Amino acid sequence: MSAGVPVHDFRGVDPSREELEKAEELRAADERARLAAAAEAHRGAYRSDAPCPTARLNTGASIPLIGLGTWKSEKGAVRAAVVEAVRAGYRHIDCAAVYGNEEEVGEALAQVFSEGVVRRSDLFITSKLWNSEHGGERARAACLKTLKDLRLDHLDLYLIHWPHSGRPGPAVAPPLAETWAALEALASDGLARAIGVSNFSIKKMQALAEAGARVTPAVLQVEAHPYWRNDALISWARSRGIHVTAYSPLGSPDSAAMMRRGPDAPTPMGDPTVAAVAARLGKSPAQVLIRWAAQRGTSVLPKSVHPDRIRANLEAAAFELPAADFEALSSLPTQMRMLPGDFLVDPQNGPYRSRAELWDEPEPAAAL
Ligand SMILES: NC(=O)c1ccc[n+]([C@@H]2O[C@H](COP(=O)([O-])OP(=O)(O)OC[C@H]3O[C@@H](n4cnc5c(N)ncnc54)[C@H](OP(=O)(O)O)[C@@H]3O)[C@@H](O)[C@H]2O)c1
Repeated sequence: MSAGVPVHDFRGVDPSREELEKAEELRAADERARLAAAAEAHRGAYRSDAPCPTARLNTGASIPLIGLGTWKSEKGAVRAAVVEAVRAGYRHIDCAAVYGNEEEVGEALAQVFSEGVVRRSDLFITSKLWNSEHGGERARAACLKTLKDLRLDHLDLYLIHWPHSGRPGPAVAPPLAETWAALEALASDGLARAIGVSNFSIKKMQALAEAGARVTPAVLQVEAHPYWRNDALISWARSRGIHVTAYSPLGSPDSAAMMRRGPDAPTPMGDPTVAAVAARLGKSPAQVLIRWAAQRGTSVLPKSVHPDRIRANLEAAAFELPAADFEALSSLPTQMRMLPGDFLVDPQNGPYRSRAELWDEPEPAAAL
């Protein structure tokens, strides 16, 4: 120790357990007072009467039926979109590591929590494990990174994003069962309150069970809209108590170029039946499509970065489609995937040598 620096003797001056508890109580009381004052200041920015229908998961938790999608929501826009959505009444945000924007979503969540009106327990936050991170240790590390980026200590739902590890070869490696076991461990450690899968077929979910899965997926997230109803998969999942979340409910118009859909490709938002129902009910085509998804019991993830659309899309929770309109929307002849997953099809090396192998179903004639 250099001269002049006082030497402290800490022996005997450790705070007692009571003193530590008292200090913690004071800190917690300060935090409550700060949040109460913040809530007072910000309450006007938050809608208090927004509709928020929910479904029950096989874990017993509730999942809000309408959630904000964040794929393609660019950095610089996604923070405002998430803050706007929560203020408008959304309580469900759909994220994924591969969207490249979880840090900014985390900033938005930190902002809304600091504003004191909405607490962590009010929100349902989903994220997804990307293909390159399959396998026991990698999956855990990926989940921890997502939690750090989102500034959360747990997710409400963690999904295997695709049934593919990104590696060519005769079989998925590491096997999907190993990655699923890693998600089971994340759930038992409380890092994910529920776990599930995305883009899995019936056959691939059954294979998980046959390989010894201890936990049934709580959620299956798949493409679903009137141009890709996915009826058989959805009714199978239902029969097993697996909740279905519908992605790309508006037909994913902003992925058209990426997915090589031509400018003339049909879109559910441009469908004449959708337009006629919307006009008759005084709603937008987007609201009709979101309502259709919620009315068939799926949760649904419209993505937008525009405040007016974010607000209007949630209004789909507040009206009902008459039975005849629901039926008409449920029987449109055009059936085509907007996201056929071709980036995961490798005809030479596998593991999926065709779309049919990826999805375990023949592609309909009208498919892209
Ligand atoms: N698990 C998976 O593999 C997977 C795959 C795809 C999607 N998802 C999830 O599902 C979410 C939704 O799917 P998606 O992003 O493919 O597409 P989507 O929600 O079907 O469509 C988004 C597009 O619709 C536009 N839009 C939104 N509201 C509108 C309105 N009221 N009127 C007119 N246009 C409107 C958006 O534009 P603006 O943003 O400019 O408003 C954007 O171009 C994703 O963001 C993601 O969270 C998951």
